[in-house]
Amino acid sequence: MEKEQDVTRRDFLKTAAVVAAASALPGAPAILAAPSPSQVVRFGMIGTGTEGCTLLKFATTIPEARCVATCDIYPPNLKKGVETIGTNPDTYEDYRKMLERKDLDAIYVVTPLNLHARMVIDALDAGKHVFVEKSMFFKEEEADQIRKVAAEHPKQVLQVGLQRRSSVLYQVAIEMIRKGALGKVMFVRAQWHRNNNWRRPVPDPKFERLINWRMYKEYSGGLMAELASHQIDVTNWAFGAEPLSVVATGGIDYWQDGREVCDNVQAIFEYPGGRKLLYSSILYNQHYDFDEQIMGDGGTLIITIGKGMYFREHAAKVTQAGAKENWWAGATVTKQATQEGIPIFPEHGNGEGAFLEREVRYARRWLASMGIFNYEEQHDPWWSEQTNFFASIRDGKPVAAPLEMGVADALAVIYANRAVETGQKVLWPTKPA
Ligand SMILES: NC(=O)c1ccc[n+]([C@@H]2O[C@H](COP(=O)([O-])OP(=O)(O)OC[C@H]3O[C@@H](n4cnc5c(N)ncnc54)[C@H](O)[C@@H]3O)[C@@H](O)[C@H]2O)c1
Repeated sequence: MEKEQDVTRRDFLKTAAVVAAASALPGAPAILAAPSPSQVVRFGMIGTGTEGCTLLKFATTIPEARCVATCDIYPPNLKKGVETIGTNPDTYEDYRKMLERKDLDAIYVVTPLNLHARMVIDALDAGKHVFVEKSMFFKEEEADQIRKVAAEHPKQVLQVGLQRRSSVLYQVAIEMIRKGALGKVMFVRAQWHRNNNWRRPVPDPKFERLINWRMYKEYSGGLMAELASHQIDVTNWAFGAEPLSVVATGGIDYWQDGREVCDNVQAIFEYPGGRKLLYSSILYNQHYDFDEQIMGDGGTLIITIGKGMYFREHAAKVTQAGAKENWWAGATVTKQATQEGIPIFPEHGNGEGAFLEREVRYARRWLASMGIFNYEEQHDPWWSEQTNFFASIRDGKPVAAPLEMGVADALAVIYANRAVETGQKVLWPTKPA
């Protein structure tokens, strides 16, 4: 017991430096002193629908910022936003009127995808810092339009709502990859599977397109934009690269209810060095739910918000007996450990009492010896991404999900949809040298 306490303490001391280092990562939640009123970021939100209200719910717990204005063209959602904030913000139907206000530091764009670029550009031109939901934009040409305006306003922060970038667990996963815990990482398989029609109830048919905008090509990039975009971003992060090409297929094969976007998409993105992302999203079976499975020749990591499992390779060296303490040398792992994995990021608790207690301990020590520590996610990434946004505005902290990350992500969505529509392999344009 004493020895075990020693090990735990030693591991903790070893990893304390890593914790400190991790909190310096761009995506790590900022720890800020209580702000003076003049430092509080005053923001307005355009679009207080589902995601807008989720963001607001977390924003109300962040002292560094206050939502003082909201805008929505659908009265019930405008009301919902006001109720979520609970502090009587000014309300607008026309976002341009809200942008005229001089007392707003920042604007959130949380509207249907087709509106993002116009609103981001207008908000930047109005002198505001901008938080825009993913996918960042709808059409390929909007990348350069946003880049141009952002370059004209270099002091304004622009952050994209790719909240996994602000998740401590994802940051640790990326650390594991960078420090070699997975060996040479060559392949990612990711999916987002649901078993529902992805529709929202509509109180009056005249609101169908406003409420179910996701179903229509005029406003939506379908499953690729709404779901895959998160996982493409994780893959770009894991590989440290953007794709070179994509082949994809999909169709309206199950929910033939007037929708215009696919109810299933499957895509293969090729990255430099032959690395690949195999992606699937379907709306008629939810067994596999959503996660990313990152595979290297030394191990596999299966992650999603809130949990992660680590599987060591070296199957040839598996023993039937108990694990040896040379875990970190990668030599001997029990069969159960390779097959059932190590809960690196358990959803609740820290793995004690779970299966493979001893190997979990060994694996953690091994990770600690590489400077990687398993964290509990202390805050929801929706909280962390906003805290990061405000810290970038107030203290110049690096932006957790900046412009080019959003551009890379949005272009991958657009090219994958083009591959589905044309049945052709789509190549990324070559970048100017
Ligand atoms: N990061 C995430 O995990 C996440 C999750 C869900 C949605 N999103 C993104 O958030 C965005 C919004 O999605 P949602 O699910 O909240 O959609 P939603 O339909 O629930 O909300 C969008 C809101 O925008 C309003 N709106 C439409 N046109 C407007 C206009 N011209 N001016 C002002 N308001 C207008 C609508 O009335 C609606 O209330 C999308 O880009 C979506 O991809 C991100």
